[in-house]
Amino acid sequence: MTTETWTAVDDYIIGHVQPTDPVLDAAQEAARAAGLPAISVSAAQGKFLHLLARIHHATRILEVGTLAGYSTIWLGRALPADGRLVTLEFDPKHAEVARANIARAGLADKVDIRVGRAIDALPTLAGEGPFDLIFIDADKPGTSAYFQWALKLSRRGTVIVVDNVVRDGKVIDPAGDASAEGMRAFMTALAAETRVSATVLQTVGAKGYDGFALAIVEQPA
Ligand code: SAH
Ligand code: DHB
Ligand code: MG
Repeated sequence: MTTETWTAVDDYIIGHVQPTDPVLDAAQEAARAAGLPAISVSAAQGKFLHLLARIHHATRILEVGTLAGYSTIWLGRALPADGRLVTLEFDPKHAEVARANIARAGLADKVDIRVGRAIDALPTLAGEGPFDLIFIDADKPGTSAYFQWALKLSRRGTVIVVDNVVRDGKVIDPAGDASAEGMRAFMTALAAETRVSATVLQTVGAKGYDGFALAIVEQPA
């Protein structure tokens, strides 16, 4: 089995559950045209995040790592009329592309992009929480710190999703790169964390072999 097969099956799946989506296609095209890296979640993963937010009736969502706003649009579309999403992005160029994509998706009123380092923005969000769902998908070495902040910005029942936990299996390689090492540190923190109930779901598809961590907060920090 190869990424080629996984991508073909991903195309087949999305063709059966979300066949045409000009807004999301335009968002990806704008990202490509602006030279942003092609590291968003896949369409099937985006739909998964969307469904998760709807299942959970999330009205306040926090995202760490916006890029071009692709996952932001999937999550933002899950919100009710009075729902709000705050998304944190370090790179002003990424934020600019995301702002246009989010406006094109009709989500400008619901989505608030905060430009700057996530570690600086997170402490400022206490008054805007607790969040119902938090998606962590920025620099991988920062994941453990973002997870600790996510716990502080949570209520009992908050859902926390972390992207890119598995990284081609590098998460179990002690000699992995800095990103894999960041995920190993996150997994160590997760193992010691008694305030959440969690799992990691391995995934294959258009984005290769990776995985999401999924946690529900039993007791906020
Ligand atoms: N969630 C997006 C992909 C995010 S890619 C999607 O699936 O569509 C990761 C993003 O995190 C990049 O845009 C990168 O610029 C941003 N990032 C990296 N380091 C960061 C930091 N310290 N604080 C905030 N954002 C950061
Ligand atoms: C990278 C980041 C991501 O969030 C992702 O989903 C895939 C790759 C990266 O930085 O390489
Ligand atoms: Mg990611």
